[in-house]
Amino acid sequence: MKAVTWQAKRTVSVEEVPDPQLLESTDAIIKITSTAICGSDLHLYEVMTPFMEKGDIMGHEPMGIVQEVGSAVTNVKPGDRVVIPFNIACGECAMCLRGLTTQCETTQVREHDRGAALFGYTKLYGHVPGGQAEYLRVPHANFMAKKVPDGPSDDRFLYLSDVLPTAWQAVKYANIPENGTVVVIGLGPIGEMATRIAQQQGAETVIGIDLVPERLARTAAHGVIPVDIREFEGDQQKLAQFIREKLGGNGPAAVIEAVGMEAHGSPNVKLVQQLTGMLPDAAAQKVFTTAGMDRLFALHSAIELVGRGGTLSISGVYAGQADPISLDALFDKQVTVRMGQANAPFWTQEILPLLTDDNLFDVDNFATHHLSLDEAPHAYEIFQKKEDNAFKIILKP
Ligand SMILES: NC(=O)c1ccc[n+]([C@@H]2O[C@H](COP(=O)([O-])OP(=O)(O)OC[C@H]3O[C@@H](n4cnc5c(N)ncnc54)[C@H](O)[C@@H]3O)[C@@H](O)[C@H]2O)c1
Ligand SMILES: [Zn+2]
Ligand SMILES: [Zn+2]
Repeated sequence: MKAVTWQAKRTVSVEEVPDPQLLESTDAIIKITSTAICGSDLHLYEVMTPFMEKGDIMGHEPMGIVQEVGSAVTNVKPGDRVVIPFNIACGECAMCLRGLTTQCETTQVREHDRGAALFGYTKLYGHVPGGQAEYLRVPHANFMAKKVPDGPSDDRFLYLSDVLPTAWQAVKYANIPENGTVVVIGLGPIGEMATRIAQQQGAETVIGIDLVPERLARTAAHGVIPVDIREFEGDQQKLAQFIREKLGGNGPAAVIEAVGMEAHGSPNVKLVQQLTGMLPDAAAQKVFTTAGMDRLFALHSAIELVGRGGTLSISGVYAGQADPISLDALFDKQVTVRMGQANAPFWTQEILPLLTDDNLFDVDNFATHHLSLDEAPHAYEIFQKKEDNAFKIILKP
């Protein structure tokens, strides 16, 4: 089959690789019909280079048609249309039963002291082949293959793989007060979807912060107050001051951080990322996990912005250990912080009815690009550079 493979820093290519096989009785094989590129793939494309291996199959936002199932799979059968959440979980252990599928006791990557395995996400997360391919092996298919109805196009259900559950969790964790205000930092697919969900869940005022004009415009079109961070020239205090004045008094009771370690703003970021990309692997892994580099620009903004007694909900992905965080401010302001990988297979059950009954989040036109799998190298490039208005790209194998 054909698959999008990681080759080197900022280089992916479509290669011919062996078809996946059923390995366990609980596996299913699906034929992929749509598979999206995510902001998280950009971390692998550039920053996480030391943890990647040449030939790794990318992707964790797939859907398709069940092709083949193992003898223990009873919830889906060949021909069923399914979406596959990015976080791999058994659905039966104590953690899964609490809804914490990211901590699944069956799939935890103990070798690296990590939570549940993820599709297409480096050796730290189980080294599981990803979904930007023609076929995908899905472990624990009884729980992981989420059946969706026929009818609407793939675009309606594809975001159940990641964007919807992640944004959903971000909003739940943000604990927005009744008729309250939330500030969403970063208006990529995750941030924008979080603004839509926050509105649907009753937030009165939603402020969205980014630096890409098209992204600010997209969210403004559905009632979000846009704030362009470039106007503050990297001065987080000025930004926080502006938001406080806009809201009158204390800062927002809820802030969602949906940027992660690719944040723009700090001049050091590019340099350290480039340095780690240049060092030999073992050395680079060490620099990456121990150096206190300032990849935290957006996170620092979030801490600065959140009001006293407020809640900070972090969806952006941060890897590495010794980053200096403003613990002082978190402590002084008595902020509640919640974060983590989204418990995607858990939340899909709650969200699916909102897509079928009313199409509540109006996702049919959410993607800006539908390209063939062969065009993946181009797709990664324009998505990373935010060129050609690339916001969400769906590849069609
Ligand atoms: N927790 C999870 O389970 C989970 C799941 C999916 C994605 N993510 C993470 O969520 C984040 C967003 O994902 P995405 O797909 O929307 O990515 P994206 O790269 O498309 O979006 C990030 C947005 O942040 C903006 N941005 C950059 N620096 C900023 C700054 N200093 N202030 C304000 N905005 C800034 C960018 O312009 C961009 O629009 C990524 O870190 C991704 O890895 C987490
Ligand atoms: Zn994703
Ligand atoms: Zn489990």
